[in-house]
Amino acid sequence: MPQPPRHYLQFRDLGREEYAYLFERSRAIKARFLRYERYWPLQDRTLVMIFEKASTRTRLSFEAGMHQLGGAAIYLNTRDSQLGRGEPVEDAAQVISRMCDAVMIRTYEQSIIERFAQHSRVPVINGLTNEYHPCQALADIFTFIEHRGSIEGRTVAWIGDSNNVCNTWLQAAEVLGFHVHVSTPPGYEVEPERAGLLGTGHYAHFDDPMDAVRGADLVTTDVWTSMGFEAENEARRAAFQDWQVDAEMMRAARPDALFMHCLPAHRGEEVAADVIDGSQSVVWDEAANRMHTQKALLEYLLLGRVEDA
Ligand code: CP
Ligand code: NVA
Repeated sequence: MPQPPRHYLQFRDLGREEYAYLFERSRAIKARFLRYERYWPLQDRTLVMIFEKASTRTRLSFEAGMHQLGGAAIYLNTRDSQLGRGEPVEDAAQVISRMCDAVMIRTYEQSIIERFAQHSRVPVINGLTNEYHPCQALADIFTFIEHRGSIEGRTVAWIGDSNNVCNTWLQAAEVLGFHVHVSTPPGYEVEPERAGLLGTGHYAHFDDPMDAVRGADLVTTDVWTSMGFEAENEARRAAFQDWQVDAEMMRAARPDALFMHCLPAHRGEEVAADVIDGSQSVVWDEAANRMHTQKALLEYLLLGRVEDA
């Protein structure tokens, strides 16, 4: 019997030891890329990327990453494939997974990607759902480690919407052993069940964002309105006015605190321009690391642990 494929649908799909391995592989793979050294462990392998929502970073990082690993990436969207015309997800999974070695999906409900994975013969990677964005947290935590060392025991302040990226930080805190201080406006609080939390006490809610950032090692935020929730735009803009990460908030964090944002950002809404463009911001490293960490993830899901130096 062939082994069932390993999927990456939410952050907790991998364990602490596996993350330690992936961060080490990300470092080695990135160093090799920066030296222009050819590394083709995925020669003749194909990644299919299915997008039901827009993307710049996710598409580019997976497509360039597959190319650099010696493989190929194929882009599909709902507009001009049968996926947008009502073909059952289960049927699509059966067919697509017979023609490629891995599938990355960006879609709406988490249940869609779970149904796809149940019927897939190859690993399925979550490229963002309404609930989670595990590839983002993978890159963000690698970026933190590059700049500040281990994240274990550190404090991350999440300011704004309790969205897919926030949920993923909360899962990551449980898996890797750090703390998240969350501040959201009333009515937009974390839903622990939707976030897939075990309830290990790794996050705390603060009504006042200034209290959440106090003493934090990392301050992070995201758009007030995520893709798929555009109808709530006006109400959210009003509700989130006091949840902009600004210079005063950064001063309340540790003096060496980093600022992160998964991007795309709206300066003057969730973050002030002088913060995202300021000296504590590592957003460009964060974006670039999407590619390096996903290359390590693809290598791991397709080949397992490798001996490569
Ligand atoms: N951060 C992120 O996932 O960006 P894209 O929407 O551009 O892929
Ligand atoms: N929370 C945002 C992240 C975009 C990368 C969204 O889902 O639109």
